[in-house]
Amino acid sequence: MPEQTVRWIGDLDGRMELIDQTLLPLEFKFITMNTIEEVWEAIKVLRVRGAPAIGVAAAMGMVVGIQKASDDEKEVADRAIRAAEYLATSRPTAVNLFWALDRMKRCVEQYRGKGGRAIKAALLAEAKAIRDEDAAMCRRIGDNGQHLITEGCGVLTHCNAGSLATAEYGTALAPMYRAHERGRKFRVYADETRPLLQGARLTMWELQQAGIDCTLICDNMAAVVMRQGKVNLVIVGADRIAANGDTANKIGTYGVAVLAKHHGVPFYVAAPSSTFDLKIGSGAEIPIEERGGDEVTRGFGRQTAPTGAKTYCPAFDVTPAELIAGIITERGLIERPDRERIASVVGV
Ligand code: MRU
Repeated sequence: MPEQTVRWIGDLDGRMELIDQTLLPLEFKFITMNTIEEVWEAIKVLRVRGAPAIGVAAAMGMVVGIQKASDDEKEVADRAIRAAEYLATSRPTAVNLFWALDRMKRCVEQYRGKGGRAIKAALLAEAKAIRDEDAAMCRRIGDNGQHLITEGCGVLTHCNAGSLATAEYGTALAPMYRAHERGRKFRVYADETRPLLQGARLTMWELQQAGIDCTLICDNMAAVVMRQGKVNLVIVGADRIAANGDTANKIGTYGVAVLAKHHGVPFYVAAPSSTFDLKIGSGAEIPIEERGGDEVTRGFGRQTAPTGAKTYCPAFDVTPAELIAGIITERGLIERPDRERIASVVGV
């Protein structure tokens, strides 16, 4: 399993590094983020991706943004707030991005009056805390979901909600890692996840590293493997969960949930409390990112559609709560999620 996806080396004079996921599975490489523009670009083009990892990157990106400021308090505070506003424009769907930036902004306010140096130190400590807390939450998600991965079962996942998508250890993959650590044998089917192939490039790579039995399928094969009885449950991650349990995740997730319902396969979502957006009532309010048509017509450099082909490219979809058997959080498993059950677990 890969080490920390996003990391800070050293103190305030140190540096931010992240695994460049666009190079995987062929090359495993950490790159240094020298400027806030580089952090924004890394989020935008998915060098770092996955809701919790984006949150960690944004928090550390704010530190990059104030690192070279003088110790004048007003300058540090102004630059920090501008950095937060700028990073918030990188991607719209994963709420962890905004959750982390809000936490960092609150930190600025808390330290106003104590001097620029104190604000800088507090922001670095907060960014490191966001990272460490995410790593701990992921392990608890693993604990709370591992019982679902029974001996000999088949589990299907979509996109990558593993170690690479978080600080470390993953959300949807965490119960699989925990079950594997306990010696349980099971099979994973990984949807390749068009158009950017996070399942093929990243989930397959991670699970192979961990020594877990995994089989790559094209997205359009999920129905067949379910019909053949090879899949006993589905676990996916989430980018934003509304107060009623409607869940945004990588495009194609909704289709998998509909297939699972038809085949009587329980469909689970795994996510930390930082992925819930209780301010919005339903999935209809979740902003869905649209990406460039090139990712579909010219994926990975080769043209696969006629020049000028019209495209429609939402990067995420919303699975209605009624299709979700349970949401595995670090605070416990929310079965048959609805407004009340969600509020009682993550609303406090
Ligand atoms: O576009 P991406 O690769 O950032 O999309 C990632 C997903 O949809 C993940 O499933 C989600 O962020 C959960 S990550 C623990």
